[in-house]
Amino acid sequence: MKIAILPGDGIGTEIVAEAVKVLNVLDMKFEMETALVGGAAYDAHGHPLPDSTLKLAKEADAILFGAVGDWKYDTLDRPLRPEQAILGLRKNLGLFANFRPAICYKELVNASSLKPELVAGLDILIIRELTGDIYFGQPRGRRVSPDGAFAGAEEAFDTMRYTRPEVERIARVAFEAARKRSKRVTSVDKANVLETFQFWKDIVTEVHKDYPDVALDHMYVDNAAMQLVKEPKRFDVVVTGNMFGDILSDEASMLTGSIGMLPSASLNASSQGLYEPSHGSAPDIAGKGIANPLATILSAAMMLRFSLNQEAAALRIEEAVKTVLAQGFRTGDIYSDGTTKVSTAQMGEAVVKALRS
Ligand code: IPM
Ligand code: MG
Repeated sequence: MKIAILPGDGIGTEIVAEAVKVLNVLDMKFEMETALVGGAAYDAHGHPLPDSTLKLAKEADAILFGAVGDWKYDTLDRPLRPEQAILGLRKNLGLFANFRPAICYKELVNASSLKPELVAGLDILIIRELTGDIYFGQPRGRRVSPDGAFAGAEEAFDTMRYTRPEVERIARVAFEAARKRSKRVTSVDKANVLETFQFWKDIVTEVHKDYPDVALDHMYVDNAAMQLVKEPKRFDVVVTGNMFGDILSDEASMLTGSIGMLPSASLNASSQGLYEPSHGSAPDIAGKGIANPLATILSAAMMLRFSLNQEAAALRIEEAVKTVLAQGFRTGDIYSDGTTKVSTAQMGEAVVKALRS
């Protein structure tokens, strides 16, 4: 079981360190190798995704990823910015299926900004298509004005695009996932305005014919954004494109109390996967030891389940996370009166201890 460890930037290094501690107490034979990625790789090698890092990722069974990005790279040419590392990994490894489960643990019902009765028992699975859409559309660029007007450009454009096989395969992933849950899928689109998403909707409807046992409904993305805060428990599996999925998964994370709780898995057709917290590098709190490592620890559990075929170990980690929450340990993002505020490392230690006992 070969795992590439790519901590990245900002809080990435702190949270991944805790997840590695957790993996190490499982007493399993992992071969772990760490490499630079994102801004850290740019600083050392002049590129956010050096060939050596990409090679390591390709050869691994799974990748444990932290986060990338820092404002200080905002002025770099786009291909050199830290975010290109994660986008490049997704594209190069064909990691098209992104699973972002939003589960509200009962201990965190009061950490959510929504009323407890709206989020208690919440368990949504957002399935985000990850290698198409406007994120990877061509052409893209800026049209430079002849007289060198403001910022040297008069127009900028990105192209929203999906192909039939791309939509078909993510639709199948969603219907298959729903079969293991409550057999309901909501496909989120913007078919009332965008051709790309009428196409999406039509194809999801076609693929649905192969899954008569699963209920399908369609929802426009603006309405979905509203329903997520109005009545989140109406959703079970939500399938959507890359851009809408990016936005809705951040929104859904707040239902669970904190984006610091939301893990993710990005899988390709051969179940090789990249596992990362859904949150970013949070440069504002980096180095302070206050970040919540649970999203990354839960991502490591998903890694054991989906890529390493170790369901029992995955469940052990998830149980240990529930235990530390029940014990009252909270990082700042999920802290509330009457609980114990802990640092990133203390939270990692608490999970390690729960696993040992
Ligand atoms: C995410 C992040 C990334 C994305 C960024 C860092 C490129 O927001 O994984 O949700 O937009 O996909
Ligand atoms: Mg995002």
